[in-house]
Amino acid sequence: MQQSIPHGGNLMDRWNPDAELNAIDKEVELDAVALSDLELIATGAYSPLTGFLGEADYRSVVDRMRLEDGTVWPLPITLPVPAKRAEGLEPGEKIKLTKDGTVYGVLDLKEKYAPDKIREAKSVYQTADPNHPGVKKLLERPDLYLAGPVHLVRTTTPQFPDRLLNPAATRAAFARWGWKRVVGFQTRNPIHRAHEYIQKAALETVDGLFLHPLVGETKADDLPAQIRMESYETLLKHYYPAERVLLSVFPAAMRYAGPREAVFHALVRKNYGCTHFIVGRDHAGVGNYYGTYDAQKIFLRFREEELGITPLFFEHSFYCKRCESMASVKSCPHEKEDHIILSGTQVRRMLRRGERPPATFSRPEVADVLISGLRKEQLFSREGQP
Ligand code: ADX
Repeated sequence: MQQSIPHGGNLMDRWNPDAELNAIDKEVELDAVALSDLELIATGAYSPLTGFLGEADYRSVVDRMRLEDGTVWPLPITLPVPAKRAEGLEPGEKIKLTKDGTVYGVLDLKEKYAPDKIREAKSVYQTADPNHPGVKKLLERPDLYLAGPVHLVRTTTPQFPDRLLNPAATRAAFARWGWKRVVGFQTRNPIHRAHEYIQKAALETVDGLFLHPLVGETKADDLPAQIRMESYETLLKHYYPAERVLLSVFPAAMRYAGPREAVFHALVRKNYGCTHFIVGRDHAGVGNYYGTYDAQKIFLRFREEELGITPLFFEHSFYCKRCESMASVKSCPHEKEDHIILSGTQVRRMLRRGERPPATFSRPEVADVLISGLRKEQLFSREGQP
């Protein structure tokens, strides 16, 4: 198999540092999510998108997980602004996209429209419950969507400059190393033994592993990216073959949209050059909003060729004391009592108390980095807080 073809056929490039800004007098302020989306559109990570979705594409994405032309696209990428702010903005105008006084992009405004957010929530998140972090965010963002193609005129200062690669760069690296079959891995968490197990199981059948942790906006109780990055570096140093793994960051915001976000994560990793993508247990899930394997089942609703990336499904994995190895419900015949399974909340609580989870759950080197990172960030001010 050849290197993967970008979604829609071509890698988009909307980077234009020479764009003429002086003649543009209108501007809108981006929030952190819109700013990260702008950069990801511009680098081609969201190919075939060239901007924020217009109403027809938006409705089509919400209702049937496809752009209007039929291309699979499961998450609405939108630019919400307060209705009042949009009053003086007219289709046909160019608008500066700013954050904290700095211009990052230009929007070629084509449309402005009012979304039906409850419908969006019910379709995309399968719930309109405002306690769901993705729905909460959706409802908090302003009520009018601006749409049109964008250009990026300046990049943000990256949090991890040495680990930030755009899709063109990762594709070039894979080609240079002769990696034809590359498996992508998404995470918003530290890498524990179950993650390591499914990554290495996948790596056994392909040429390289693209470790692509999400470092954009996450909910408050997820571990900060800074602490996670250090733990990834440590894990790689001790347990992974350097010539088979590329660690790079994915600067997108987490949506917690479960199944739909799993498809989105896969398509985006295709744009970075992956041919395969890992989908395990409750991918991009939160609380009990999605079934354990819903994020796998959703892939069956699309034809292989319209996805263009092969999902690799993994069952719930754990260490089994009787097998004396990592295993899953698919490969282990033993009882629950023999399995080391800890919830994210339990693990965070242990780490905040300075306690290492068992080595069968988390590599000790990783646990130590997480404990000291949490200490430094003084995130454990209230004992026992998840
Ligand atoms: S998230 O970004 O998908 O929310 P998370 O770190 O929870 O991040 O999971 C990363 C990937 O590992 C997902 O594909 C998820 O389904 C998978 N995964 C996490 N834990 C397990 C597990 N114990 N067994 C199998 N797959 C898992």
